[in-house]
Parts: sequence; structure tokens; C-alpha cells
Amino acid sequence: TLTPKVRQAMDRIDEGLSRGRIPAEVFGNPDIYQAELRRIFGRAWVFMAHESEIEANGDYVVRKIGEDSFVVTRDEHGQIHVLFDACRHRGVQICRADSGNSSHFRCPYHGWTYSSDGSLVGAPLWKNALSGMKKENSGLAKAAQVESFHGLIFATLDPTAPPLRTYLGGMAWYLDLVFGLDKDGVEVLGAPQRFVVDANWKSGADNFSGDDYHLGTLHKSVWSIGAFPVPFSENMMGYHIQASPGHSLSFSMAEYADEPGPNFFGFPESIAEHFDSVNISPEQLEVARRSRVFVGNVFPNFSILALPMTEDGANHAPTGILTIRTWQPKGPGQIEIWNWFVGYKNMTPEQKERTYHAALGTFSLGGSFEMDDTEPWLTVTRTGGSVAGELLGFELNYEMGMPGIGMATPVSDWPGPGKVYWTRYEEGVQRNLYQFYADMMRSEPGEWPEFEF
Ligand code: FES
Ligand code: FE
Repeated sequence: TLTPKVRQAMDRIDEGLSRGRIPAEVFGNPDIYQAELRRIFGRAWVFMAHESEIEANGDYVVRKIGEDSFVVTRDEHGQIHVLFDACRHRGVQICRADSGNSSHFRCPYHGWTYSSDGSLVGAPLWKNALSGMKKENSGLAKAAQVESFHGLIFATLDPTAPPLRTYLGGMAWYLDLVFGLDKDGVEVLGAPQRFVVDANWKSGADNFSGDDYHLGTLHKSVWSIGAFPVPFSENMMGYHIQASPGHSLSFSMAEYADEPGPNFFGFPESIAEHFDSVNISPEQLEVARRSRVFVGNVFPNFSILALPMTEDGANHAPTGILTIRTWQPKGPGQIEIWNWFVGYKNMTPEQKERTYHAALGTFSLGGSFEMDDTEPWLTVTRTGGSVAGELLGFELNYEMGMPGIGMATPVSDWPGPGKVYWTRYEEGVQRNLYQFYADMMRSEPGEWPEFEF
């Protein structure tokens, strides 16, 4: 159960959102963070890996749910497993590499050995030590549910969580139109980048839910080097979408079908001409065609970004980039950012290299956008954990786009699911994130908050 103070903070979010406010302490209070590990990360569907990272039988990668390590494996039969990285004998960490290929995992302590599907296959001196013990009950523990969507592997520790597709709700329609655009799908380009930032995980989720407003101020310098081909004011014309509870996204989009400017997120013509509606509807294809930027967050901490970018406007024309990332919590004031560069499988090696470099120079550890973004988040966390913030009952402002505030208006003739607003001067996408967050935090494990998909 929640401590009275944490419960009070969650009630304050619920009450404050009706005024467009949330208490700053949700970004810095260690008790809230501890509760999040159980109530959010212990229950939600969490992104683990893309199937192309573990293509061959025996491939594995080590990933986290909350702060806990799991080995994501492809077993000898091609089946995917998400195994708790803890030996059944004494709980010792069994996998000491970040990734690799192995048919078995052998615990370094006493040598219990598991196959890549998690089952216990043997232990040293079995006859003397353990003959008579049942192996069946001593395999590695597994995530309660594992499912893939367009090759994106998700897992949850909660056996009562709804199926992934239900959990994604309306967001599935939008993931389709990025990941299902080419009939052969996507693949990761290289290993994910990882870097630690002293910020709260929700700052990443909040930003990628559709904080387009910061572009004109924080990223002003990036426009001046020509990194992004759409002018700021034009780029703010687009849609904010609360796809379903918790999941939000934002599109910058051409106003009409043949408007000059990039389409299909800036991916090259020669690949875009293969995009078709084999796996998606004609409506989804049309939305993708008009799209310049897609940025979104699958609750809690999985974000997606597709847009035209170049690392150096003077020498390279922008090209479409696609990055997926997780805001991996490492305490109330720290995240490890995991950043995968993704390309369509059918792109040529040159196109893959070009998109990789454009992404590396912009949305990566050394990238011009990333450098801008992470700095302010450090200070949000500081404010959230401050004594002054606590004593003053300090609240953050999320009023943009509420009735009478700014220019955003609801859209009714939109082909996809969700609550949709026109122009990206709007913060309902973030209010949607925090409303679901508060609902999850206040509902008891086993009792999922009411979904209205
Ligand atoms: Fe793993 Fe003993 S702790 S074999
Ligand atoms: Fe940014």
C-alpha cells in the first residue's frame, strides 16, 4: 500500500490536472519513486528489445524492468523468453555480459546451468548433491507475460495485466503507421547507445509525449545550422493525440496532400515508394505520407521519434531518422537513456548508413538535440526534490490547450483513434500521461484502472 504522503501526492495530481497543474515533487520524491517501481514498472508492459537484436537462436540481450535485470533470449527453437537474471539456487546473477549468443547460462557460484529457455538442465555433482530434486521447479523465473508488436518485444511482471494489444489501445494504430509502413518491417542499426543523465524518467516520457513548445527556445540553435528542414511556426501546425490512457503522441504534418516539404518523415523517395498498405490501412498510409514528425510515448517509458534530420545542414541534406528509446529509471533522480537507431529492412546499406549518421549527430549522446534536451531535465529533478518546493507546495503548469487557453482546438474528422487536437500548442498529451500515471499509482495491484479505449 502507498504511504499517506505518496497517496496524498497522487490525489494532488488528480485534483491539480483539472486546473492544469501537477505537484513538482513527483519528479524528485524518493518515496514516490519507490512506489513507482512496484505500481508502474511492476505492472505495465515495458519495452525490452527489438526482435532483430536477437535474430539467431541462442542470441540474448540483458535488459531492465524497473531496476531489475532480465535476459531476453531466443531459444534453440526460435522462441523468445524474458528470464529474471537470478539463479534459482541462491539468487546470483547468472549473465555477466550485456549481449551474446549462448545455448546455456552457467551460474558462477556453484555452476547450476540453465538452457536459453530458462529451464534447469543440470548442476555439478548432481548425483551426490541433488539426485532426487525435481529440475522442473527450478528453472529461471520469467516475466509474467511477453508479447511482440511489429517486432517490438514487451514484457510485464503482472499476470493480471491486459494483453499487450489491449494495453496499447489506440496507440497500436499509430505504431502501425511507423513500424508497419514497409511490408518487411524495421531492424535496429547497430547496438543501442546508453548514457546516464541525472534526471527523473518522467521528464523523458513527458517531453516525448509531445512537448513541441520547447523547440523554438531550447533548440533554436539547431535550426540555425539547418539540421531540420521545416520552419518552427510551420512545424507547430499538426496534431496532438491522446491515443488512449497514458499513451500520447504528436504529429507535424502537411496541411494538404501535395503541400511541398518532406513526407514519410523525410525517408528517401526510393524507399518511400515501396511503402504500401500491405500491413496498414490506406488511411494510415495517407497519414504517414503527410507526416513530417512523429513523436510519441508508450506509457510508461518507451518513446519513438521519426523525422527528417541532418547532422550538418551545410554538407548533407536531411533524411528520415527513426529512433526508439527507453527512459530507464535508476533512482528518483537518475535515468539511463537507451537509444536505438532503427531503419526499414528494405533500405539500401547506403541509406541505412546515412540515417544512422543523421541520427547520431542529432538524437544521441553527442547529438545536438539530445544535449539541449537533457540539461533542463536535471533542474526539474532538483526542483522536484527541493525543500523549498515542498514547503511552498510548488506546482508545475500544464494548462496549454485547456479550454480558453491558447489556440488548440479539438478535431473531429480524424481517421485514427484517440482524442485529437489541432496545432501542437497543447499539453493535453502530457495531462493524459499524468492522469493515467496517477490512476495506476492509486489502483491496487491486481485491480487495473478503468480503461476506456
Ligand atoms: Fe547459482 Fe548456487 S547460486 S549455483
Ligand atoms: Fe527536444
